[in-house]
Amino acid sequence: MPRRRVSPGGALRYNFGMLIHSASQLLTLAGGPQRGADLGRLGIISDGAVLVREGQIAALGSSRELRAAYAHEPALDAAGKVVLPGFVDPHTHLIFAGDRAAEFELRLEGKTYLEILAAGGGILSSVRASRQAGLAELVAQAQARAAVMLRHGTTTAEAKTGYGLTTESELIQLAAVLLLDEEGPLELAPTFLGAHAVAPEYEEDAQGYTDLVCRAMLPEVRRWWQQHAAQRPLPFVDVFCETGAFSLAQSRQILTTARALGFPLKIHADEFDNLGGAGLAAELGAVSADHLVKTSPAELAALAGSNTVAVALPCTPFGLAEPHYTPAREILQAGGLLAIASDLNPGTAWCESMQFVIALACRYLRLTPAQAIAAATINAAAAIGRADRIGSLEIGKQADLIVLGVDDYRQLGYRFGANLVQTVVKKGRVVAQ
Ligand code: NIG
Ligand code: FE
Repeated sequence: MPRRRVSPGGALRYNFGMLIHSASQLLTLAGGPQRGADLGRLGIISDGAVLVREGQIAALGSSRELRAAYAHEPALDAAGKVVLPGFVDPHTHLIFAGDRAAEFELRLEGKTYLEILAAGGGILSSVRASRQAGLAELVAQAQARAAVMLRHGTTTAEAKTGYGLTTESELIQLAAVLLLDEEGPLELAPTFLGAHAVAPEYEEDAQGYTDLVCRAMLPEVRRWWQQHAAQRPLPFVDVFCETGAFSLAQSRQILTTARALGFPLKIHADEFDNLGGAGLAAELGAVSADHLVKTSPAELAALAGSNTVAVALPCTPFGLAEPHYTPAREILQAGGLLAIASDLNPGTAWCESMQFVIALACRYLRLTPAQAIAAATINAAAAIGRADRIGSLEIGKQADLIVLGVDDYRQLGYRFGANLVQTVVKKGRVVAQ
């Protein structure tokens, strides 16, 4: 009997099972999140195969064993190429309207990011465009980016609100995340970032806006969630703790209010200035602390001693043409949990590709390809609290995986600017080829 081949349409018919075999290197990333010096354990099976059933991983092993045991399963021949878990992008501002190409030019002419923000541009210009757009338009624009992310191998991403800054417009952005997630195939982990910038209506009154976030927005988001998404865990709550955005005291007020309401926490800390946000994240048990460019050694140690994942965003300094990057090696030396993410956003880093993030991480964070891959899969899954379900290829986990067009995993990081992903499998189905 000829082997049945799986095509995008065929995958629907054969959703019950598929044997992906003949991977030169099957990177399992098995064994949970990888802390400190442990980062980079790829768990490679040479000439590997993986059996997918009902959207989950059902078996792993050598191609010889699995092809003998599952001879009648529909087959996808990886043809001597690398197979690995789909990338997880744990920090994106996916939901926004318009672009800021004009500001990019201003920055090249010498204006700084924080100067542009202080003059009412920056995040606030995307806020104006996004408020005006409305739900359908926000979804359409984000959907185009989600499709690019998927084709570049990202199978799950975190997605933040934060370009609304009123209760109503922030809830529209949260609804956009949920709609896109329901539609798939890219799976989204929602984050409420009402404290992304001080709303224009509160221009000179950051404390007034902070009080609004705490007294009105957070309780309203919780009520809305119970009405519209009660079956899902609450979204993350994030805050931009930075000069020109929210002070350490205001960030603490927002995050402690959110925690009391039951929200899991994230923080943007030390992107431009060291305000103490990383220490706050460790103290409050945040799921992740992100950016960490200007974090002090003492706070890096505090983070390393906690379960908070340190998320480095190398596209941001790259996008701003700034020379300082997250001290990733210090984080690892201190025994921290390190992940990497795109920070996809219209201001500092419009990048949909985790392959490019890996390439930057190898050069500017000084990670090896193996370390960068682990930081973009199993540790990135930990940064959104989903390491039990995604980020590695292990029996019982979700069958989210990618086939590259190359036979050695070190080509990731080494090469950049082109897409090395050939096939994307999400929940056991071929979704891009
Ligand atoms: O992570 N820092 C705040 N948020 C983004 C930038 C957002 C924007 O400029 O629109 C960041 O870099
Ligand atoms: Fe960000």
